[in-house]
Amino acid sequence: MVKRAGGALLQSVRIDPASSRPIATQLYSALRELMLSGAIATGVRLPATRTLAKDLAVSRTTVIDAFERLLAEGLIVSRVGSGTFVSDVLDAERPKPVQSPEHSGAQPGKPKLSSAMEWAIPKFSPRSRLPHRPKTFVTALPAYDAFPMAQWARISAGHWRGAREDVLGYGEPFGLARLREAIATHLRGNRGITCEKEQIFIVGGAQQAFSLIGSALLDPGDRVWFENPGAIGARNSFIACGAELVPVPVDRDGLMVEEGEQLSPEFRLAFVTPSHQQPLSHIMSLERRFALLQAAQRASAWIIEDDYDGEFFFGRQPVPTLKSVDQTGLVIYVGTFSKSLFPALRLGFMLVPPALVETFERMTASFVQGVPTNVQGIVAEFIQEGHFATHIRRMRGVYAERHAMLVEESRRQLNGLLDVAPTESGLHTVGWLAPAISERSATEAAAKQGIVVSAIARFSIAPTPHNGLVLGFGATNPREIRDGVTKLASVLTALA
Ligand SMILES: Cc1ncc(COP(=O)(O)O)c(C=O)c1O
Repeated sequence: MVKRAGGALLQSVRIDPASSRPIATQLYSALRELMLSGAIATGVRLPATRTLAKDLAVSRTTVIDAFERLLAEGLIVSRVGSGTFVSDVLDAERPKPVQSPEHSGAQPGKPKLSSAMEWAIPKFSPRSRLPHRPKTFVTALPAYDAFPMAQWARISAGHWRGAREDVLGYGEPFGLARLREAIATHLRGNRGITCEKEQIFIVGGAQQAFSLIGSALLDPGDRVWFENPGAIGARNSFIACGAELVPVPVDRDGLMVEEGEQLSPEFRLAFVTPSHQQPLSHIMSLERRFALLQAAQRASAWIIEDDYDGEFFFGRQPVPTLKSVDQTGLVIYVGTFSKSLFPALRLGFMLVPPALVETFERMTASFVQGVPTNVQGIVAEFIQEGHFATHIRRMRGVYAERHAMLVEESRRQLNGLLDVAPTESGLHTVGWLAPAISERSATEAAAKQGIVVSAIARFSIAPTPHNGLVLGFGATNPREIRDGVTKLASVLTALA
């Protein structure tokens, strides 16, 4: 005798009319779950659509819609004249859920990872390291309020009117040729770098560049000289490769090369932020740059220069890049559009020395193909039409004003509590806390007032002598800066 799915089935189907999920989808999901879990056995006949609709107080069309999806998936079959049945395919051998006690794996529920990831995952925080929306003094974000949305929208719309074979395809594997050319021209003219477009690879943000470089150049256990304190995202990429980070201290002149040599004369890679040290905000001196290049040459190591916000200098002269004085061919220069345009683009690039061009060509052509072609096309157009240069020039003024406001207001309101150090470039700087106030208490108390300041310890991979906060001024307008400093003053006074 054919079994029918009746009362028990109906009791377990829950339809929420207030949910934003369509009712047909809710019914489909509930029935699907019952079938896959075995709660309704194979061969069981389902109620007629009219009956089910009445019992569940939904329309018959809704039930037919849900049944059609289950039919299309092969979970039910319809037999003319006799009704709709749960399909026999569900009797086939199916993998058991991993939590099942019958599962014979060594550690049920725990997937086996690569040894590098087994080691790395516990070191990563489950929280995102980057902010989505700007709050007072947030770091890592540019001024959304000053972005030329109208120009951007016009160029975006124009992009989609291009020839279909240009805008719908996979795109060029190393990045759009027009964009590589535009970047090379920009770097030659504005960052003092002699380069050819063939050396430039377009990637999904600086972060992807760090991961690709790490996977191309690092073996587990390899040593990486890393600024301490230093950039969190780059640090995570190298940890993911199983690298051993050597915490090299940083002073006013940048990475302390002699200390690095004492800590570990052998290293595979050095990571530096010479134009605006992340997070301490110093510019690396020329002497240190030469010392680093020599140390890398001695150790046959590569250097990554992360020029994430060096375009925004406040003095008359641009801050020079390390790549512009590199005669060794060991420097890989990484750039991003996250600050110079906006982070949602997820667009960056790496400029690799000639010795690495073929390696990265093969890598990117074989398994990367990362950045949407439309994003590349729009940015190329934005640069070629001259909007990028104008935007950068204008933003230098905007950031200089915000920086000046932060420094002046801090001098006026935070005396003896937080000594905000002026910087010459970028979108953030540091403030040194009075010794009686800990970084942790300051960040926690500020967060309660809606102010996002970061402890320097967050950027550290080994203890440092610093006691300070990182303050972003790029995404905070002058009025918010003044109000934020006032709030910070009351928070810090209460803690002091
Ligand atoms: C030091 C540093 N480099 C690079 C980036 C940009 O990374 P991405 O291009 O992946 O957004 C950031 C972002 O905050 C950063 O702090």
